[in-house]
Amino acid sequence: MAYTVMMVFGTRPEAIKMAPLARVLRTWPEVDLRICSTGQHREMLEQVLTAFGLKVDQDLKVMTQNQTLNGLSRDLLDKIDQAYEQTRPDIVLVHGDTTTSFIASLAAFHRRIPIGHVEAGLRTGNLQQPWPEEANRRLTGVLADLHFTPTRDSDANLIHEGVPPEHIAVTGNTVIDALLWMRDHLAEQQWKPAADSPLGVLRDDQRMVLITGHRRENFGHGFERICKALAQLGERYPDVQFVYPVHLNPQVQQAVYGVLSGRNNIHLVPPQDYQHFVWLMARAHVILTDSGGVQEEAPALGKPVLVLRKVTERPAVLKGGTVKLVGTDTARIVDETSQLLDDPAAYARMARVYTPFGDGHASERIAERLSRWFTEQSAARDNA
Ligand code: UD1
Ligand code: UDP
Repeated sequence: MAYTVMMVFGTRPEAIKMAPLARVLRTWPEVDLRICSTGQHREMLEQVLTAFGLKVDQDLKVMTQNQTLNGLSRDLLDKIDQAYEQTRPDIVLVHGDTTTSFIASLAAFHRRIPIGHVEAGLRTGNLQQPWPEEANRRLTGVLADLHFTPTRDSDANLIHEGVPPEHIAVTGNTVIDALLWMRDHLAEQQWKPAADSPLGVLRDDQRMVLITGHRRENFGHGFERICKALAQLGERYPDVQFVYPVHLNPQVQQAVYGVLSGRNNIHLVPPQDYQHFVWLMARAHVILTDSGGVQEEAPALGKPVLVLRKVTERPAVLKGGTVKLVGTDTARIVDETSQLLDDPAAYARMARVYTPFGDGHASERIAERLSRWFTEQSAARDNA
């Protein structure tokens, strides 16, 4: 008997991290995989689907310009419910901490459809940071039946919240599966961005600092301080290239282009597809980011990361000493980045490969646990 497994995702990071799992589940004969994109993101999601050759079965196309959390949630609840009515899955798989993940879980719970939560158990303990993601991931954790965690820290968080240990499987993070696949794929082809692409202007003989930033809790003062720091760094280091693929959220675009446009060594470029972005990470000297996924990927490539946040839900990355939390204070960002650019010993201490998130086989472990769950469910039905 084949089980209908429905994967629901809507944003760039969810799609990157679910793509390797989709590849594995497609090869399991007992699984009939259906992929539902909510379309919470549009162009940025399309880039991932193309990079991984992923075909979606349902596209709910919910994105609107400058969407509000409540407007988005309302549309998601309505459309995801219709998608469940159409597909009638045996289990729904959601990822992480987005509004798509939480609302897809709530809609499944209302229909008594079991839920598997991939990248479960991350916590900062502070509902405001990251906002609203800390709430989304906790609420999803309350509703989920199976919790696939990236590291043991996350297991401990869930057990502390009363989740039965037999409902938790530590699997590693599927982002490493995606990253290693893409890195090897680029290496095999000796791939480089096209000369006429926005990255074609980058010089091989200069160091490069890669930046990403999009967190809602940094909007306003946080972004102003980050951009001021980048402007100062750009002036202090004319021979360093600063590359910032700017997230399409209009609030981010306004803040970043408003302060940083028109500077010779600061390259503001559109969001990059996954192959270009992995190439950028591998080529970078230092990475500045407030992204969750980049904190996980960059240490696996041996790149020092300065995190533009006060707290992280990924304590495992701090243990390796290759990632440092610097917050959004202008002077601190400038000082910490300058130290990495000026002091070879400080740089060497942070430029090491560190991979607490697994070996690139998290997706297989999730599929195996899912398969055992099907067996358990079928035995329970026989005994009922
Ligand atoms: C969302 C997630 C966040 C995740 C991030 C990854 C929530 C609440 N937030 O934040 O957890 O870290 O995605 O990037 O779920 N836009 C486009 N095209 C796109 C994508 C976005 O134009 O392809 C613009 C739209 O105007 C949209 C806005 O960005 O309304 C915000 O998108 P949204 O998904 O609500 O929030 P993100 O900040 O992207
Ligand atoms: N990423 C990408 N192109 C970019 C910026 C990031 O493909 O221009 C990838 C990055 O490698 C990581 C993921 O997007 O896998 C992180 O997404 P984002 O920072 O938007 O979300 P978060 O991880 O913070 O939820």
